[in-house]
Amino acid sequence: MSTPILDIAALTVRFGGLTAVDELSFQVQPGQIHALIGPNGAGKSTTFNCISRYYAPTSGSIAYAGEDITRRDAAEMAGMGVARTFQNLELFNDLSVEENALLGTYSYGARRLGQLLRRPAAEHREHVHHLLERVGLIDFLDHKASSLDFGRQKMLELARALAIRPRLLLLDEPAAGLRNREIDKLDKILTELSSKEGLTVLLVEHVMQLVMSISHRITVMSFGHKIAEGAPAEIRTDERVIEAYLGRGTSHE
Ligand SMILES: Nc1ncnc2c1ncn2[C@@H]1O[C@H](COP(=O)(O)OP(=O)(O)OP(=O)(O)O)[C@@H](O)[C@H]1O
Ligand SMILES: [Mg+2]
Repeated sequence: MSTPILDIAALTVRFGGLTAVDELSFQVQPGQIHALIGPNGAGKSTTFNCISRYYAPTSGSIAYAGEDITRRDAAEMAGMGVARTFQNLELFNDLSVEENALLGTYSYGARRLGQLLRRPAAEHREHVHHLLERVGLIDFLDHKASSLDFGRQKMLELARALAIRPRLLLLDEPAAGLRNREIDKLDKILTELSSKEGLTVLLVEHVMQLVMSISHRITVMSFGHKIAEGAPAEIRTDERVIEAYLGRGTSHE
């Protein structure tokens, strides 16, 4: 195996008396789509928020591209090539589709924010148009983000994250609330980004149809612990995984 792009070691996060993530370790290999799954409350988003530096871990370490980022600022991450989306959408409702996507280029564009939106460099605009074409939003450039239906808002968040030209893309439940047709499209986009452009993706997701279809490797969490890890075919039949899902009466399949 090559050097991991992401190396999580003994990550622990406590909220008061609750241990949300408990000595979690796993590695993500470059160019792979790596899924992090598990029942509700397993600690997936908490782990995700530590990697994107929105939460500070209680203990343990996180290395990105060989560098310890455990104490880095969230704001620095985009500049290092790490992009994320949010479990709950975080778009600028009053800005247009094009403007929302352009904001993604801000991390490497030298221009001031107002200028970036009023007079974006041709290079940024072209890049953003290419991405909006890819996610099916090129006909909505001037529409306000708030006027889009939910599925298109999720696609806009994806385009904005891709606009930073990430090496590592962190996605928290990108398929939640999407229709089957939209999930198929997401499947195709992510598979292509990984296979053709070598993008690494860490995917937190409950929609098993997507997880099983696109993931190279899957880490399974339950009650803050890693309970299994492997290729989709192994995870599908793993007794501990089946037990963790069925044991809680969740029906995310
Ligand atoms: N900021 C916080 N303060 C206190 N407790 C928190 C906080 N964030 C998460 N938790 C708790 O930590 C545990 C793990 O939550 P987390 O959101 O990481 O789960 P998850 O695996 O993402 O679940 P879901 O699939 O429902 O999104 C839960 O018990 C949750 O209530
Ligand atoms: Mg979550």
